[in-house]
Amino acid sequence: MAGNAQLVQQTDEYLMPNYGRVPLAMVKGSGARIWDADGKEYIDFFAGFGAGGVVGHCHPEVVAAIKSQAEKLLSCGNLFTNEPQVELAKSIVEHSFDAQCFFCHSGAEANEAALKLTRLVAGEGRYKIISFYNCFHGRTMGALSLTPEKYQKGFDPMLPGNVKVPLDDIEAVEASIDNQTSGIIIEPIQGEGGVNVPSKEFMQELRRLCNEKSLVLICDEVWTAPARTGEWFAYQHYGITPDIMTLGKAIGGGVPLAACVARRELSSRLTAGTHGCTLGGNPLCAASGVSVMKLIERENLTEAARKKGQICLDTIRSANISKIKDIRGKGLMIGIELDCSCKEIFNRCLEEGLIINCTQEKVIRIAPPLIIDGTDLQRGLEILIKVLST
Ligand SMILES: Cc1ncc(COP(=O)(O)O)c(C=O)c1O
Repeated sequence: MAGNAQLVQQTDEYLMPNYGRVPLAMVKGSGARIWDADGKEYIDFFAGFGAGGVVGHCHPEVVAAIKSQAEKLLSCGNLFTNEPQVELAKSIVEHSFDAQCFFCHSGAEANEAALKLTRLVAGEGRYKIISFYNCFHGRTMGALSLTPEKYQKGFDPMLPGNVKVPLDDIEAVEASIDNQTSGIIIEPIQGEGGVNVPSKEFMQELRRLCNEKSLVLICDEVWTAPARTGEWFAYQHYGITPDIMTLGKAIGGGVPLAACVARRELSSRLTAGTHGCTLGGNPLCAASGVSVMKLIERENLTEAARKKGQICLDTIRSANISKIKDIRGKGLMIGIELDCSCKEIFNRCLEEGLIINCTQEKVIRIAPPLIIDGTDLQRGLEILIKVLST
């Protein structure tokens, strides 16, 4: 089997250089652990950018669901329906709000669907969408338009009508609304932007404004759901319900699966031919999603996120590390803001066998799988604290 060096060299030769990759190849995962091509083991506190994030790597029940479905039917197109897709949609709706689902493969695609639906609902001429500084909604042209300028360089022109305002500033939101505004998109907790948690009052005011001005409120839950923040969906922390919610990453248990979930009044506007995705909601990926939803319910992973998140916060806080300026987040979505760059911390953690993430230069993000056991959680925290303290 090829080792790290060979795979990295071949990656450089055959793959586009669009990712800032670490020169390692991963070959095996189990729970909160992952192994590279030279056999080194890591505790994964970031779970593939959240994509393997809820149930961990290769959860046996997810693997069994995929194997069993693979032997029956891989895809049939959306000319027909299929049982795993229906079961998954039903489960998402039962744990969220009275809605209908559209399935696709990536968070960006889910947001594209949300944008198109918002335009349909708002009607001609109402094309403006409000998003927030430090947000992240994806890399396709529509989603990119909503995302901060630093990601847009070289790709202009963007979609017209993007309005950006500061988080937690309801006056700025209100001032930016005009008769061409169709909706507001917000992450209930910003991920890439540095784990920024909006206040409950702000989220409730947003809901009120959207009701008052007939705007569509979209919650981008691609990072925050399912279960990661201690609720099935993070909007549930705020006592509000969005009109549309988008899902991605962890919902697939590690395979490509994403969804745009919209209140029935809106979803009914996406009539035949208005939108689509050839392999969206294919039985294979949907079966994996169903197994994730079942595991969250049976293993009470929302509570696990709350309890383990609290252990992380308490352990890191009690270490009294002078470099730490702030620790924030909900459940197992935690940001640790430093007074220095976290790049070196990332490299040293990797050497010690711990995978973390570094965003916005100074914010460490940790998001271990919710199924992580006490031993791996403690070991990961020990490494992190040791590295941060020296
Ligand atoms: C909040 C949020 N929305 C959307 C996306 C885009 O998801 P994807 O990379 O699956 O297109 C991301 C990716 O990190 C994200 O964090």
